[in-house]
Formats: sequence, structure tokens, C-alpha cells
Amino acid sequence: MTHNQTEETPASILPIIPTIDVVVFPHMVVPLLVLDEKIIKGVEQAMQGDKKVLLLAAQQSENYHGPIGVQDLFKIGTVSTIMRIMNLPDGGIKVLAQGVEKALVEEVISGQDLLQAKITETSTTTYDEKKAEYQLRNIQALIERISATGRLFSPDFQAILSQIQEPDRITDFILSHLDLSVQQAQALLEKDNLNNLLDGIYDVLSQEVESYNVQERIRNNTRDSINKSQREYYLREQMKAIQKELGEEGENENDDLREKVKTLPLTEEAKLEATRQLRRLEKTAPDSMEATVIRNHLELLLGLPWGVFTKDNTDIKTAKTILESNHFGLDEAKDRILDFLSIRFLNESSHTPILCLAGPPGVGKTSLGESIAKALGRKYFRISLGGVYDECEIRGHRRTYVGALPGRFIQAIKKSESSNPLIIIDEIDKLGMSNRGDPAAALLEVLDPEQNHSFYDNYLGVHFDLSKVMFIATANDLSTIPGPLRDRMEIIQLSGYAHEEKLEIAERHLIQRALKNCGLNNNAPEFNRNVLSKLITSYTREAGVRELGRYLQKLCAKYARALVESNEKIAFSENNIEHYLGPCKISQETFIHSNKIGVSNGLAWTPYGGELLQIEAVLMRGNGRLLLTGQLGDVMKESAQAAITYAKAHADLFTIDAKLFNEYDLHIHVPAGAVPKDGPSAGITLLSAILSALTGRAINGSYAMTGELNLQGNVLPIGGLKEKILAAKQFGLHHVIIPKQNARDLSTISQKLYEGINLVFVDNVEEVLNHVLMPQA
Ligand SMILES: Nc1ncnc2c1ncn2[C@@H]1O[C@H](COP(=O)(O)OP(=O)(O)O)[C@@H](O)[C@H]1O
Ligand SMILES: [Mg+2]
Repeated sequence: MTHNQTEETPASILPIIPTIDVVVFPHMVVPLLVLDEKIIKGVEQAMQGDKKVLLLAAQQSENYHGPIGVQDLFKIGTVSTIMRIMNLPDGGIKVLAQGVEKALVEEVISGQDLLQAKITETSTTTYDEKKAEYQLRNIQALIERISATGRLFSPDFQAILSQIQEPDRITDFILSHLDLSVQQAQALLEKDNLNNLLDGIYDVLSQEVESYNVQERIRNNTRDSINKSQREYYLREQMKAIQKELGEEGENENDDLREKVKTLPLTEEAKLEATRQLRRLEKTAPDSMEATVIRNHLELLLGLPWGVFTKDNTDIKTAKTILESNHFGLDEAKDRILDFLSIRFLNESSHTPILCLAGPPGVGKTSLGESIAKALGRKYFRISLGGVYDECEIRGHRRTYVGALPGRFIQAIKKSESSNPLIIIDEIDKLGMSNRGDPAAALLEVLDPEQNHSFYDNYLGVHFDLSKVMFIATANDLSTIPGPLRDRMEIIQLSGYAHEEKLEIAERHLIQRALKNCGLNNNAPEFNRNVLSKLITSYTREAGVRELGRYLQKLCAKYARALVESNEKIAFSENNIEHYLGPCKISQETFIHSNKIGVSNGLAWTPYGGELLQIEAVLMRGNGRLLLTGQLGDVMKESAQAAITYAKAHADLFTIDAKLFNEYDLHIHVPAGAVPKDGPSAGITLLSAILSALTGRAINGSYAMTGELNLQGNVLPIGGLKEKILAAKQFGLHHVIIPKQNARDLSTISQKLYEGINLVFVDNVEEVLNHVLMPQA
């Protein structure tokens, strides 16, 4: 039946192919996929006839995906010719069709196995050619604008377009390239003449331009906001610069460093190095480990007091007053220091030797150095070399080491903020030696005026001039200072204080200091001389006054506490200080003073002051051997040998039984573990003990003695006389036997020191023995 219909009105009834997402315009070629059997039948029928079909677009609501009914098809479509069909394996067909002309659907005929439409021509009105020409020009202008933005139309598009002449072909060509929605395309298809169609196309294109502009505007807005943040950055940078001008702290440390490189009076070498490091710093990430290392180094390099020198006080009177007011006694040392300063005042650039203050602990070496700095008006820095084993402590570590530091001297320069400070090298004798290089050699370089104007510190990495620095060293024991180092220094020997001097120092300095430290300025306790004496004799046995100062401080603290706790003012007396300080620390060793056979009192010098050294000799049955104990040094062992030889040689003189030497062993022992026992000055002490043991005559316990012995029986001079006399005094010995040749040393010792001591000068060992050996009991 349908067949008939087709035959009846072949031109006006055509099979329909609904298109889902495309609207076909005349001249447009489209590939279509057909799966519905009814439609396939229609296509097959068309293939047998004039190959004409009607392509009809389906109007889809936006989100609708269900089956499309006949009622959903638009009423205007395009009659097309089928160019080719291809059967698909699953039963569908692929159709390639080209639009021919528009048609209006009068009626959709939906039969059992065919879908057809009854169509008529669409009504078209005539169009204005002139207007169309003008419209096309406008459209082309729009197309140009759009393709200039590189969208929608390819570059060839305009070239092809310019080749086409007929307006409707131009329109078709443009339409086939527009990216239109089905609704938009259908609306264009339904335009009734070319002018209206061109208007429609113009609208679509201008919408495209408009949307592009909107997008562009949005993009520009974001770009604007980016530009804005950049602008803010620049403003902030400017703000920093302004802040810096105003002297407010700038944030950028690198700027700070760069500024310093520019303005500091660096040496040429330092400037180069700093610039190099700055450049490196700028290339490294600011938070990285490496940047920290570089910045630390630069901060040190630029933090050194380049070109900063303090002006010396050159008034010798002021210098003298400062020394006098801070230190009691020490006349010789002060004298030498003033001599030394005078030379400097006269000629600042002269290479004055390095002073070394040597003496027992607590005699004021370090504080004297400090006073010299004050007298000169120089910055002061103390470097303690006790226990420095590593050369790097002086020369600095290479920066490649983790935790690398500059050497002590560069640190000292940095801290003292001046290129000519006074540096005290404290305890230079405690400088260690080890496998980590030779710190003494490094120190030598620092102190040598020939070399120290260009001292190189490994960490700093550039040379620094240390020649304007004034060095003062302190030491307890000169003998442990390496020779070359000792030669560089002018030694000023300080010795221990006598009891009376200690009293004076306590009264003039130590008490005030202790009070000040305890904040007792207005409520000062009284310390009378008896209290001080007891502190000196029963609580301390020292060459200096360090312990004494400490005990005074302790008493002040007790006083302060009583004052705070119960508003009580303690009156210290020699009887009650035990209550506050505990029992006396120093026992009165009465055994020292008793007369005994084979025991003599010697005196020894140590770096820490004089010491009493008892020597014991005992005879026992044996075969003439000599036994020496008490860890004696070689020199002391030899003087023991010499003493025995002398005793043997003079056995007759002392009526010694000769067989004692063959049938008895002699044991010599020197107790007191802490005292180093070496040197020849115990010669007469050893001989006295030995002869006492051999003769059985006791030794007078109130004598102490010191003196070297030779085989002829002469008593030779010794060193450390002052310390030895002080030691004898401290131990309560009233007679001190000393070599006559040492008498000249007394001129350098104040009389006060040996007040109450009977000094016995001897030339010959016989005189010694006459004094100490008591008659046979
Ligand atoms: N002659 C002195 N006059 C005043 N105070 C002194 C004197 N000798 C030492 N002192 C004081 O004794 C304390 C220890 O002195 P210090 O300089 O540390 O001794 P050293 O360095 O020789 O071991 C310091 O408080 C110091 O002021
Ligand atoms: Mg000291």
C-alpha cells in the first residue's frame, strides 16, 4: 500500500531519515548511521527509485536521551539524494547523503513498515541582492575578526571563501563550517529568504565574537590581578628601600651584606672574597644549608672590625694610678709594666715584646693583664689556652667542615670590636700537644711581629692584620712553654704573697669585692685581722689569694642570709668562723717540727708556689744497696747518689762505722705525692737525712733547708727563693738554711716577707750539718 502511495506521488511523498544531532542544509554532505528497520526499508525503497529522501532533524530537549517519536521531528527538513549506502555487519546501514533543497512536511505517514512524509515546497520570498551583498561583506568582516583570533575558521577558509561567487553557495559554505546547535541550525534552515538567513548567520557570528570578547575580558581581569600582585611586590621593595633610608631595619639581609662590602674599609683581598661569596649566596636557595654556611661566613668576615682602632691612653700617670688602685704590692711587676708601656707610648709602631706574667695561681696575673688594658684604654679579651690540643682552635677550621668555626684569635677580634685590642693569652703553659697539628707553632705565628700582620685563619679565608694587637700571656710554669715561644716573650715573674701581704690585699680589695658580689654595700660585716689571719693560716695554704677571696665570699653569703632570714648581723670572730665554714681545712702538721733521726725538711719550688718536702732516710740490714722511692726525677736521684758519695768520703769526719755501708741498705723516701720531685736543690736536705740515719743523730725539726750540693761539699745557689721562704713560713718553720750565693736575691724581696724568719746563709755543707744535726742523744 505504501508502495502505491509512493508511486502515486513520487515527488511529494518521501521516506524520512530523522537526524538526531545535525541539521542538513542544501548542498551539505552528511554521513548518517541508520539502525531502525522502518527507516532502512525507506532508504532501500528510495534506492530503487530516484534516491530521494527527506532528512528531518529531531528537536531534542537538552538533557533528553530517550527514544524519539515522530512528533519530535521538525516540520522543515531538507530533501537529499543518497550518494552511497553501505551495509554494516550488524544489520544497520551507513548512508552518505547530500542536501538538495528545503521542504515543508505536510504530514508524517507512519505506516507498518515505512516512515514517510508528505512534503510541499517551502515558501520562499524573493531577496534583495544588494542587501545580500552588503550583508555578506559584514559577515566576511566578522569572519576575518574571528579567524584573527585563531578560532573556528582555519587559515584556508578565507582563501576558499574568496573563490566562491554565488551568494547562496557562500552561505552554504559558511553554514557548513559553523559550530551550531541543532536549535540554532534549524532556525537558520527555516529562514524564508537569503537576506534573513544572512542576518541569522551574522547574529551567530557576532555572538561568537561577543563571547570571545567576554572570555578575553575575563582573561584580562586575571592578568590584571597578576600584574597587580607584581606591582605590590615592587611597591614593597620600594618600601624596604625607604625604610632603610629612614634607618629602619631592612628585611633583606643580603642587601645589608652588600652594603657592607661597599662601605667597609676592607682589604683588597677581603673585598674580593666577600663579593665572590655574596654572588654565591645569591645563587643558592635562601633556606638551604649551604646558604646558612655562606651567610655565617660573610657575617663574620664583614663583622670584623676592619679599620676600627681605639686610641691608646698615653698618659703614664693615669696608667700608674689604675695599676695601683687595682693591685696591692707587686711593685716590681708594676714597675716593669710601666717601663714597657712607656716604650709603647714613645713609639707606637715599635715591636715591643710580648709580656708574659708568670707565677703561682691566684697572684693576680690575669687581673693584672686586665688592668693593663684598662690603663691603655684598649678593648680587652681573654683567650684561655688551657687544654687546647687542636691547631684549628688557633688557625680556624676549614669551612668545609660541619660546624666549622674561626680560630680563637679571629673570634677575639670580632668580639672586642676593635683591631687593636689587648688579648690576654691565659695559661699559655697549658697549651697541649697532640696529633692534631701543633698549636704552639700556630701560636708562634700569631705572636711573631714578622708574620702576624697577615695572619691567615682557615675559616675566615683571608688574611687579617694582627700586628696592632697587644698580647699579654700568663703562665704558671715557664718550663712547659716551648722554647721558641718563650723566647718571644718578656717574662715578668710574680711570686706568692706573704701572710702580711695577703692581709693587706684582703683588706684593700678582696673584702670589698666579696661585699659587692653579695650586694652588701650598706650592711657590711666586719672582718678583723684575727679572722683574716685564721682564714689565711687555717683554711688556705696557697701562694695567691684566690681561696682566701672565696672564703670571704662564703662568709659574706652567710652574713647576707642571716640578715635576710632573721635580720641578724653576724659578728665574725676567729672563734666562730668554724661554725660557718666547717672545720679547718689545714691541719697543723706538728710532726714537721719535731726532731727526728733520718728526717729533714726540704723546700721545693713548684709552679703553684713553694712547698715543704720532707725527706726520710732509713737504714736496714742488707748489702749496701740504695733504694730510692717517691717517684724522684733523674736529677734528684743523682743528687741522692752524690750525697751518699759525700757521706762515704767523709765517714771519718762524722765517725760513721764503715761497715754500715756494706751490711745495711739505705732507703730514701720522699713523700707528698702532689709535688713534682726533681732538680738539684734538695742536695743538702738529702745529705742531712742520710747522715742523720748513719750517725743516729736527730735533725732539728725547726729548720728547713734548700741548696745544691757538690762533691766538694760546697752549697750552690738555688732558684725560687721567695716561694721557698714563703712555704717555710706557712709551715711555721723558723729557721731557713739557704746558700750564701742567694743572698743577693733578697734585695728583690720585701723585708716583710721574711719577717720573723731566721735566715741562715751557708757556703759549705759542714755549716748546714752544724746547724741541723743535734748532738748524740
Ligand atoms: N695584688 C693584688 N691586689 C689585689 N687583688 C689581687 C692581687 N692579687 C690577686 N688579686 C685578686 O685575686 C684574684 C685572683 O687573681 P687572678 O688574676 O685570677 O690570678 P691568676 O691569674 O694569677 O691566677 C682576683 O680577684 C684578683 O683581683
Ligand atoms: Mg689566671
